[in-house]
Amino acid sequence: MAEGERVNTLRRKILLSTFSLPILSLILSKKAANHKRSVRVNSSYKARSFKNFERIGVFSDNLIKNHLRIYQDSVYSLNSLIEEMSSFAKSRKFSLEYYELKRRFSYEFNSVRLHEIYFESMTRDGVYLKEDLRVFKKIKGDFGSFENWQNNFADLGMVRGIGWVALCYDELSDKLFNIWIDENLSGILTGCKILLVMDVFEHSYQIDYGTRKKDYISTFMKVIDWRIVEKRFSE
Ligand SMILES: [Fe+2]
Repeated sequence: MAEGERVNTLRRKILLSTFSLPILSLILSKKAANHKRSVRVNSSYKARSFKNFERIGVFSDNLIKNHLRIYQDSVYSLNSLIEEMSSFAKSRKFSLEYYELKRRFSYEFNSVRLHEIYFESMTRDGVYLKEDLRVFKKIKGDFGSFENWQNNFADLGMVRGIGWVALCYDELSDKLFNIWIDENLSGILTGCKILLVMDVFEHSYQIDYGTRKKDYISTFMKVIDWRIVEKRFSE
């Protein structure tokens, strides 16, 4: 697919998933008039590679390839949104489309960042939690025991819906929280550090596990790289 065509297809997808039908039809008629306008995509964000995830050994090649593609598409969407919003801001011709693109921005931005935290958080080498890690002591203190935390984190993954489970640290109150993030948006705690996330969108497990989400969660819990979690906690 040519670059211009790919951009237009992507923009249509973004619009379709964002707007209600009356607004959408208005915008699409305007889009048709501008169909031949070329769009240069700002490449300020680059999709990263995650060799640790590619070699994780507990998911099929198909699932891994599919998941990385979804992440790469999020990076592409994010760059397209930035480019589009920038041209609106320069012209100061604000419209419903601009405001809806702004609304969409946090969805794509969080998708990129959450996926990066997720992919980074796994290792096939089985780096088990060491009792001398600061984060281990903190988990024990805040949740009563590591098992309590583990059960709570895994149980949250069974929420009906798509999103993320995250372990967050609030420096102001010196507290850890396990939270549910709906899709890529609601539930994120302002100012808290995300130490660990587990993707529970269907694309993260259904290729290998079908509807057996619990089995996927159990696998994920065994491949957490606690060195990375400790590093995030200590920074
Ligand atoms: Fe994902």
